[in-house]
Amino acid sequence: MTITIRDLQAYKAEGKRFAMLTAYDYPTAQIVDEAGVAVVLVGDSVANNELGYPDTLPVTMDEMLHHTRAVRRGVTRALLVGDLPFMSYQASVEEGMRNAGRLLKEAGANAVKLEGPEIELTSRLSASGIPVMAHVGLTPQSVNQMGGYRVQGKTEEAANRIERECIALQRAGAFAVVLEGIPSDLGRHLTALLSIPTIGIGAGPHCDGQVLVFHDMIGLNARTPKFVKQYAHLRTDITRAVGEFISEVEAGVFPDDAHSYGGGRIYGGEDHDQPASVPRMEVGR
Ligand code: KIV
Repeated sequence: MTITIRDLQAYKAEGKRFAMLTAYDYPTAQIVDEAGVAVVLVGDSVANNELGYPDTLPVTMDEMLHHTRAVRRGVTRALLVGDLPFMSYQASVEEGMRNAGRLLKEAGANAVKLEGPEIELTSRLSASGIPVMAHVGLTPQSVNQMGGYRVQGKTEEAANRIERECIALQRAGAFAVVLEGIPSDLGRHLTALLSIPTIGIGAGPHCDGQVLVFHDMIGLNARTPKFVKQYAHLRTDITRAVGEFISEVEAGVFPDDAHSYGGGRIYGGEDHDQPASVPRMEVGR
């Protein structure tokens, strides 16, 4: 059974919370999908979490398509959302339409996400059969405009502006809205106000869904923001594993007999324990 935008809307009606995680590659996509997240997001955060860019601004449409295709191959159940990167939709509605279409047509996304109050684009995409997940509050593509990654909506005026944006995006046809970096009270207010699901990240506990960046959640990044909870500490675990491998190679402990092939013919011999999809290494070459 695959999850659709209607399912998310039904979850909201039933008061059932749901989880969304980012994935940027095939194995991660398989893991988070099989673990049961409702939504997988190929976020433009691939830029800083995977590609080594300082923020999300440099990532290109081609890079987003490349990563979305890989994730598509690993996701069979969750709703797959592809992020529109910076300057793939801001210059004109037409350009935004074309790029959003590419994420569905060329990469197999089920929906797109875009940042800010892009009302006309949201309306045109929704009318064209391209579901839109909106994203308001702290919008990382506007980091230069915001003067850093700051919590948004702290004054009454700022909170009212975010509320107006949410209402307009819902009217324009957005099927859900990510609320990033806003006070918990505002997250609660917007979740009660809107009929579409809210998905929080640094927006408190009251949203309909919650999203985290996978790399943050598994403890792969060196630093994480306050709102992140680490459910694993893979940076430490991987560093230890790599260190152990280096030591064992240097000491001549690896490979031992258990990880080596026995005698017999010089050419051919034992089969490798590999899935059929992996080309077999020829023994003895
Ligand atoms: O790109 C991303 O990972 C995101 C989520 C944090 C919502 O936009």
